[in-house]
Amino acid sequence: MTNDISKPVLVFDSGIGGLTVLRELRVLMPERDFLYVADDAGFPYGGWAEADLRARLLDLFGQLLADHDPVVSVIACNTAFTLAGADLRAAFPNHTFVGTVPAIKPAAERTRSGLISVLATPGTVKRAYTRDLIQSFASQCHVRLVGSENLARMAEDYIRGGTVDTAAVTAEIEQCFYEQDGRKTDIVVLACTHYPFMANLFRKLAPWPVDWLDPAEAIARQARRLVPALDHLRPGLHLDRAILTKGTPDFSTRRLLQGFGLTVQ
Ligand code: DGL
Repeated sequence: MTNDISKPVLVFDSGIGGLTVLRELRVLMPERDFLYVADDAGFPYGGWAEADLRARLLDLFGQLLADHDPVVSVIACNTAFTLAGADLRAAFPNHTFVGTVPAIKPAAERTRSGLISVLATPGTVKRAYTRDLIQSFASQCHVRLVGSENLARMAEDYIRGGTVDTAAVTAEIEQCFYEQDGRKTDIVVLACTHYPFMANLFRKLAPWPVDWLDPAEAIARQARRLVPALDHLRPGLHLDRAILTKGTPDFSTRRLLQGFGLTVQ
């Protein structure tokens, strides 16, 4: 990896979820420029057939790496990375990818009740990768996988200032709360980068308090480890950009991205 300051950090998601990771990356990597890429033409990823989504991601990254030559790519999307992280690394061996996977290991280390839920897209819930994480790191816990068809889309509306139906949100999260032998779920892993935008609402609607585990900071720390700070550089004025695969965004999306300091190309 050439740690050239002119190269941006690429942050990728199917939609606006990766902005929850961009926030943390900016804190830890203040000297870098960022390029945010949303594959909104493919959104939502949760219901895609695995082979089709894998092929799409490999194609997209072939193009993105050739066009933008980023210093590192942060795949800020559980649905994409749990499926195609290994394929991307194999296809582009000279490029560094930072991944996002359900935070099952930290949840297993922190839980007191031993009852954890993983709230994710239907895609992430059915991945072999997710099952392997549970087997490797949480075999002593009870882990319930809760796949939500609608939450990523609801989060997109919510963050743009749209109204959300709280009963509909409750219906999406209520499966996360369960009891066994007098013990209750005490950790819900937010295993879709869209969901932290709704964490305040989740807290209000939850039948009892739990820890909502957001992996964004851990992902940013990993990116920081892989792209060491160049000591002589001071945080400067940045021209962070956003690209959407659909092309020109609508007004509310443009306003949202500008609010995050991103110029839409
Ligand atoms: N933000 C994505 C994730 O972390 C998924 C959203 C979607 O496209 O369904 O899994």
